[in-house]
Amino acid sequence: MPHRKILITSALPYANGPIHLGHLVEYIQTDIWSRFQKQRGNQCYYVCADDAHGTPIMLKADREGIKPEELIAQVGIEHLSDFIEFGIQFDNYHSTHSEENKYFSSLIYERLRDDGHITSRNITQAYDPVKKMFLPDRFIKGDCPKCNAKDQYGDNCESCGATYSPNELKNAISAVSGEKPIEKDSIHYFFKLADFNEMLKTWTTTEGHLQAEVSNKLAEWLESGLQEWDISRDAPYFGFEIPDAPGKYFYVWLDAPIGYMASFKNFCSKQNLDFDEFWGKDSKAELYHFIGKDIIYFHALFWPAMLAGANFRTPSAVFAHGFLTVNGEKMSKSRGTFIKARTYLDHLNPEYLRYYFAAKLSSGVDDIDLSFEDFTQRVNSDLVGKVVNIASRCSGFIKKRFDDQLSAHCSEPELFQQFTLASEEIAALYESREYGKAMREIMALADKANQYIDEKKPWLVAKEDGKDRELHDICSMGINLFRLLVAYLKPVLPVLAIESEDFLNIPEQSWPSAAEPLLDHKIKTFKALMTRVDETKIAAIVEDSKENLQKIAEPVANKFDPIADEIEFDDFAKIDLRIAKIIKAEHVKGANKLLQLTVDIGDETRNVFAGIKSAYQPEDLEGKLTVVVANLKPRKMKFGLSEGMVLAAGPGGEELWVLHPDDGAIAGMRVK
Ligand code: MSP
Ligand code: ZN
Repeated sequence: MPHRKILITSALPYANGPIHLGHLVEYIQTDIWSRFQKQRGNQCYYVCADDAHGTPIMLKADREGIKPEELIAQVGIEHLSDFIEFGIQFDNYHSTHSEENKYFSSLIYERLRDDGHITSRNITQAYDPVKKMFLPDRFIKGDCPKCNAKDQYGDNCESCGATYSPNELKNAISAVSGEKPIEKDSIHYFFKLADFNEMLKTWTTTEGHLQAEVSNKLAEWLESGLQEWDISRDAPYFGFEIPDAPGKYFYVWLDAPIGYMASFKNFCSKQNLDFDEFWGKDSKAELYHFIGKDIIYFHALFWPAMLAGANFRTPSAVFAHGFLTVNGEKMSKSRGTFIKARTYLDHLNPEYLRYYFAAKLSSGVDDIDLSFEDFTQRVNSDLVGKVVNIASRCSGFIKKRFDDQLSAHCSEPELFQQFTLASEEIAALYESREYGKAMREIMALADKANQYIDEKKPWLVAKEDGKDRELHDICSMGINLFRLLVAYLKPVLPVLAIESEDFLNIPEQSWPSAAEPLLDHKIKTFKALMTRVDETKIAAIVEDSKENLQKIAEPVANKFDPIADEIEFDDFAKIDLRIAKIIKAEHVKGANKLLQLTVDIGDETRNVFAGIKSAYQPEDLEGKLTVVVANLKPRKMKFGLSEGMVLAAGPGGEELWVLHPDDGAIAGMRVK
């Protein structure tokens, strides 16, 4: 088979936060595919970069009192070291804040513009007069125009579920300065996506480009018509200035995917490779983007249209994966399941997670769940109990009785052949990203190898006189089967593979389609290749991942919540704050943010709706104490009557705390 030329990418992680286990689903999925392609002998490159531009990064640097360039340099180093320790083997890791990216962003923009695909017009937006910047929706807060709930973000109300445009918010303030935003006009540049309607209809439905479920979803979007895409942002903005529009910058999502090209271009200069062979209009190379399902729109509509419009090749395929949940729930900082790559690395072997994700991944977009129990069980039973066990069962005799030398005969050629014959089937499963099925195939072979040893009982044979040759053959067979299993697992477990190759005293294994048994071959002394998962380490990871309330709430709250107008003591004294015991907590049908609580405030129980679903599951709350405003006038909400208010603190999302006073408190006590 002639070697394929393949370029693979993963989505570029934002340079304003650490890598977490959710991200790693993607980087591990991609890395396995890239290692597999290389092991098969294909010419394959895997490139990525940090996504360094945009308002959140600019503001974060601002808050830390450093330049965005410094922030992205720091974060870039942290990202890369996390990736390296998880065995993610990029051929190149670059940044979107690079010369190459600036060059290609301008080039693509200019080509689109010259072909009439760019238009500009005036739009009105919220503007922070203190910070002197336009405000993205998520940086505006105010009261809901429908139900008056306070402190609602951007464009939807967490309390009543209404959606609206940010200029309808009442008492709106900028989350950056606390100032009241004003409305201001400015010229924006737009990419006329509708010009590519026909091209996209064809591209998104061509077999192989997209997963069926993704293609169907896009068909709906394409049916409802494509809007012009706003690709410019006004200064101050951390990004690239648009060539013919001083003071206007490319929106981060314009230059982000171009970062794939830029990283590859940077690699080409270092390696003397021909860039056009991979990106030119007539490229025969294969180009694949691995992404999460949240960014399909950008990769399956905007990106192919931009490429086609600027006379570059389009992707061979875009592969979307689902989202990671932990123990069946969204990752949560309060539960300690929002786990950073670094926190995991502090405690556990990264190859456990690579194997676990591989065992759970398919070619679809379903979410995948990391269940700690299942994780422990699979790693222990499959990797330690099945695979590594074969080598440890056989190598002792080879060392003690045969001076580390394998037998000169293959006593079970058929069994060995069964193992090599599986190679194409396993390869096809890797190729189609059905890693879970591939792992099951491989473990079925491991079961066979263990059965063989169980039947032959080398530990008994070893005690019989004159059975040396038989013992030698059995154990050598076991080692040979182990070697093939390791070859099949190599894309997933590169460290285990290298250490096993060292133990087996063989060079790096290619894909074992035509493998011959190792005969009359000297191996090295076996040392434990992998140990069982220590469950106390998982508990330690969860503990380390629980964020301290004070640590987060304070700085963020100070940044975003300006102190309200002064009140008299009498005003304060009017509020009747009570310790309440949460007797029951339930989901509210149809509400995204609310939980319904039944609370005991001493002499009566109350029904209270609280917008804390993003941070708590009902079962986290039942039996706990909280503080409620007991004399708040009952309020009729869409879901029923709310008879009080639970006090919560924090910036929002998962970082929201319902205060739990000391256990010595009793429901009904007045809070003074
Ligand atoms: N910067 C953009 C991508 C630009 S690509 C030209 C971005 N960055 S991200 O850091 O938010 O996400 C990077 C990748 O990780 C995305 O593909 C995203 O879908 C994936 N994941 C982030 N959180 C995830 C989970 N919890 N679970 C699985 N994948 C997740 O988006
Ligand atoms: Zn509302």
